[in-house]
Amino acid sequence: MTNCRSHNPLRPFPATIIKIIDETPDVKTFQMAFDDPEVMENFKQKPGQVAQISVFGVGEATISITSSPTKKGLLEFSVKKVGMLTSALHRLEPGCKVGIRGPYGNHFPYEKMKGKDLLFIGGGIGLAPLRALIDFVLAEENRKDYGNIEIIYGARSVDDLCFKYDILERWPQMPGTKVYTTIDRAEQGWEGHVGFVPAYLEEINPTPKNKYAITCGPPIMIKFVLQALEKMGFSDDQVITTLEMKMKCGIGKCGRCNIGSKYVCLDGPVFYLSQLKQLPPEF
Ligand code: FES
Repeated sequence: MTNCRSHNPLRPFPATIIKIIDETPDVKTFQMAFDDPEVMENFKQKPGQVAQISVFGVGEATISITSSPTKKGLLEFSVKKVGMLTSALHRLEPGCKVGIRGPYGNHFPYEKMKGKDLLFIGGGIGLAPLRALIDFVLAEENRKDYGNIEIIYGARSVDDLCFKYDILERWPQMPGTKVYTTIDRAEQGWEGHVGFVPAYLEEINPTPKNKYAITCGPPIMIKFVLQALEKMGFSDDQVITTLEMKMKCGIGKCGRCNIGSKYVCLDGPVFYLSQLKQLPPEF
């Protein structure tokens, strides 16, 4: 039987789509499982890692794994329809075959985070990689290792909020967990907060004491979130973000993902702000 070690790293393993959840008009979450249970068992991802998903006859793309490793027997990927590959993925149905290879990249420093409070700040589909870590720290077997959890999440509109079942229902009920949800502009039927994520963050004004801030979202949101965190007194080593752009091979071979001297697929996608500040200014 083929196992992960002897396998050509560029050849994906066959997998099947089990379930598809419509998150927003252009984002779907795919639950997938490897066809070979041994491959599924050996796929040991850590929160923050990515995988390459292939749609046969179309190509492949790097997608962050949005499910926690504590969720066994399947993987979840939330995919925004932005190009040919992701559009092809969106046309598939439960039961369709895909290929998966990985996991790739580094991961959130969940060991270092033990004993700390965690502040998650996400925008739009940017909540997808954060969700892997949120569900990891909230899992029964890990919860005692971490302090309070705050999650600030926003999207353009109610329709654009991903994982509504988590942000509005499941996570707010978890012990020691607070969820703050916002949409950019007021709309009928929404009684929650209205405003951009960085402004909401400043309003909430969390203390940096004994805390890590982990953020992912559109570049413009990240820019203002980082400024706000700095104003609140977070040091560059307390702020972590994740980048996924430009990955192709995922294993340091194609040279597509380099930023200065770093390769996102090998050195990232997770970076401390202190590391990001050493990269060329466009990032
Ligand atoms: S994705 Fe090919 S070198 Fe990083």
